[in-house]
Amino acid sequence: MARRRQLYEGKAKILFEGPEPGTLVQYFKDDATAFNAQKKGVITGKGVLNNRISEFIMLRLHEIGVPTHFVRRLNMREQLIREVEIIPLEVVVRNVAAGSLSARLGIAEGTPLPRSIVEYYYKNDALGDPLVAEEHITAFGWASVQDLDDIMALSLRVNDFLSGLFLGVGIRLVDFKLEFGRLWENEEMRIVIADEISPDSCRLWDIKTGEKLDKDRFRRDLGRVEEAYQEVARRLGILPEAGVRDLKGPETMQ
Ligand code: TMP
Repeated sequence: MARRRQLYEGKAKILFEGPEPGTLVQYFKDDATAFNAQKKGVITGKGVLNNRISEFIMLRLHEIGVPTHFVRRLNMREQLIREVEIIPLEVVVRNVAAGSLSARLGIAEGTPLPRSIVEYYYKNDALGDPLVAEEHITAFGWASVQDLDDIMALSLRVNDFLSGLFLGVGIRLVDFKLEFGRLWENEEMRIVIADEISPDSCRLWDIKTGEKLDKDRFRRDLGRVEEAYQEVARRLGILPEAGVRDLKGPETMQ
């Protein structure tokens, strides 16, 4: 592929200019960070697996009418996406207490929540992505009341759908993070799911054993990190054809 311009480099992904206006190429790295990048590492093969897993989930969401930025996977580490205006929020949906909710409110990890809880964090690395209320979001203009209505409805739909999808492969969807973007089409704006949905952005526990199959293995030094991502891909039926040997994938082409 021809050389192309890099537009943005994040902690786990790089965005390149796309082949036509309104598109971008999203490249998945093996780099992993935690605790606002205080902890850094590499999870070999993660980029290849997250590219596949996120593709799989975005396609399933498209099938049930949930709009996303995903267009198509290009190769082992890259996918074509629609260029959107990212809403500066990390939207977390929780079904079971874990992570920062457990720490903040003193609720033991693993406690089922009486109902699904949706939280908003302001996407700002310098501030460590603080928890914010709808009041902050609308007052500071990060999103409108109508945007938040759409975001809440989409988040709950995605939660119901993904909870069932993972349950079908023996995995409990404990919580996950979504990002949203504004997509403009002939003067009309739609809110769509952006970024990725993968074991980097979800907590996934084996239904029977409770084993963690997500990035918490990296965050908490639990070992067998690569294997956990592979296991999620395997259960979803999407390990790369050549199997685990294939995971390093091609290098980025710039
Ligand atoms: P938390 O319990 O640390 O707030 O995380 C909630 C969910 O959000 C969990 O599934 C991991 C995901 N997450 C991200 O995707 N990115 C982040 O930067 C953080 C802190 C969490």
